[in-house]
Amino acid sequence: MDALKNITTRNSARELCDPCPSVDEMKTVFEAALRAPDHAWLRPSQFIQITGDGRNKLSKIFIETARELNKELTDIQITKYTEAPFRAPMIIVLISNPKEHPKVPAVEQIISTGCAGQNILLSLNAMGYGAIWRTGNFAFNELISKRLELESSAQVIGYIYTGTTTGKNKTIPIHDLEDYVQIWE
Ligand SMILES: Cc1cc2nc3c(=O)[nH]c(=O)nc-3n(C[C@H](O)[C@H](O)[C@H](O)COP(=O)(O)O)c2cc1C
Repeated sequence: MDALKNITTRNSARELCDPCPSVDEMKTVFEAALRAPDHAWLRPSQFIQITGDGRNKLSKIFIETARELNKELTDIQITKYTEAPFRAPMIIVLISNPKEHPKVPAVEQIISTGCAGQNILLSLNAMGYGAIWRTGNFAFNELISKRLELESSAQVIGYIYTGTTTGKNKTIPIHDLEDYVQIWE
């Protein structure tokens, strides 16, 4: 796919089904993710690729964390959190683990992982797969970091739900560039 068309036509998918990318396709996706700009090459980004039964493990982690955050979960919340990982055949957990550095603050490194996330979305789109980046209660949360056994400096910055788009695509908005762009000449 033409590189610019890939960017301008990317459309987050609310409903996803099988198939998801193969192991080999995901190697290409992660290579692309790791080409995100990264000041001083500190390599803050890490990923967990979850498919199949791995989603049961994530489901248990979600529900245990939700119970820790709220002792009085409703039945509706329990169902929602338990089923969340099954909204797509694959979930890519985006993790940022900033390193101590005299010139590169943590925020730059978290932005770098954000760029890695966008590279993932664009690579998946170029391969014909659908995806959506979600956060919710289980991102930027120390309890989830512990349950995922991340280093204490690392945090989840998002979950990219991945698969094949099903249902109707939303219309991509047309922007009035004057609202966003100044031109100095
Ligand atoms: C950091 C981040 C967190 C997001 N969290 C959620 C979320 O929890 N739930 C959700 O429905 N969309 C979330 N979104 C938005 C969707 O991923 C998506 O961008 C939005 O639905 C607009 O669709 P588009 O990307 O096709 O323009 C998040 C986006 C970003 C960048």
